[in-house]
Amino acid sequence: MEELAIKGGRPVSDHWIPISKPLIGNEEVNEVIRVLKSGQLREGRLTRRIEEESRRKCGSKHAIAVSSGTAALHLAMMTTIKPGDEVIVPSFTFIASANSILLSGGRPIFADIDEKTFTVDPNDVLEKITSRTVAIEPVHLYGQPADIKALSEIAEDHGLKIIWDAAQAHGAQYDGRDIGSFDDIVCFSFYATKNMTTGEGGMVTTNDDDIARAIRLMKTHGQVRKYWHIMLGLNYRMTEMQAAVGIHQLRKLEKFNEARIRNAKVLTNGLRYINGIITPYVRPGCKHVFHQYTIMLELEEFRCTRDEFVKALRAENVDARVHYPTPVHLQPAYRSLMKDVRLPVTERVAKRVVSLPVHPALSDEDLKLIVEAVEKVVSHFHKR
Ligand SMILES: Cc1ncc(COP(=O)(O)O)c(C=O)c1O
Repeated sequence: MEELAIKGGRPVSDHWIPISKPLIGNEEVNEVIRVLKSGQLREGRLTRRIEEESRRKCGSKHAIAVSSGTAALHLAMMTTIKPGDEVIVPSFTFIASANSILLSGGRPIFADIDEKTFTVDPNDVLEKITSRTVAIEPVHLYGQPADIKALSEIAEDHGLKIIWDAAQAHGAQYDGRDIGSFDDIVCFSFYATKNMTTGEGGMVTTNDDDIARAIRLMKTHGQVRKYWHIMLGLNYRMTEMQAAVGIHQLRKLEKFNEARIRNAKVLTNGLRYINGIITPYVRPGCKHVFHQYTIMLELEEFRCTRDEFVKALRAENVDARVHYPTPVHLQPAYRSLMKDVRLPVTERVAKRVVSLPVHPALSDEDLKLIVEAVEKVVSHFHKR
């Protein structure tokens, strides 16, 4: 058996295979140069265009461009909750999902996830509803749509709003419908590693005229005309340079997503029969756009921890990562607020997940090497 690279053996890949790689073409470069030369740097014509194209792509009534996914979520919360309101959110997510609630004066109430899809468990959401609950914030984690039908029914039965965290799920579909078209508010991120990027940036989609108007005002200090402010707000505007990149990324999104889906298939075909590895599940009737390709380790079968497994893969030149090692309710910033919160599935899963590269810039050879590296590391650490 070939020695592991971490112990001095030869790495499976002779080049580093990164976890993400933005694909920026000449279209984006030339458009940004045109913007810079035009002198119109603040949001303008191209920002309006990316909003219009996003609205059409998602099939929503409104699309509002903002400066980040965090800004999108913060604005969504500011229009939905008041101090003391409770919002049910998964803890197995990036911390921005929950920060947006706290920053708006609300209380995040963490619900557990379903182990197969990594998305919030509707049964646990039901358990967590109180008289103070105002909204649910499901996350379409890794590009997999949450259980939209069950969650929408719960929201309707209990008079709750839904703010979908779609930061990782551009172009994902549920029952043939783009996840950006669902009520009440959908928040996207265009961060550098996302399925489409503007470096930093984000988008809010909604079908509600009042919400759209409030978000448009709040993202620019509640200003209705020059230096006349009718409500509190922030500067969460997108720049014209971001929009210049974004319009071309949006036009390429379907192609990028198809490559991710194809890469995920190749990885699953190579990994599904390897002992101790659980490959990603795709919810029936959904288009999972594989922002991340995340496997689970049956840790009892291994003579190593998940972190040792990841280290060994990285030594083989495969940029394995963990999304996310510490659930939000166990983060230092939250611990004092979250006494006695126990989320057994979340805590179990957080110790076992490993993300592998799946982005559209991978070659067939890269995909083969990723599978080989996993095989090699498993063969060293698996007990059988
Ligand atoms: C699930 C989730 N929510 C929210 C965000 C925040 O987006 P941004 O980094 O654009 O502020 C991210 C992205 O990093 C995310 O992955």
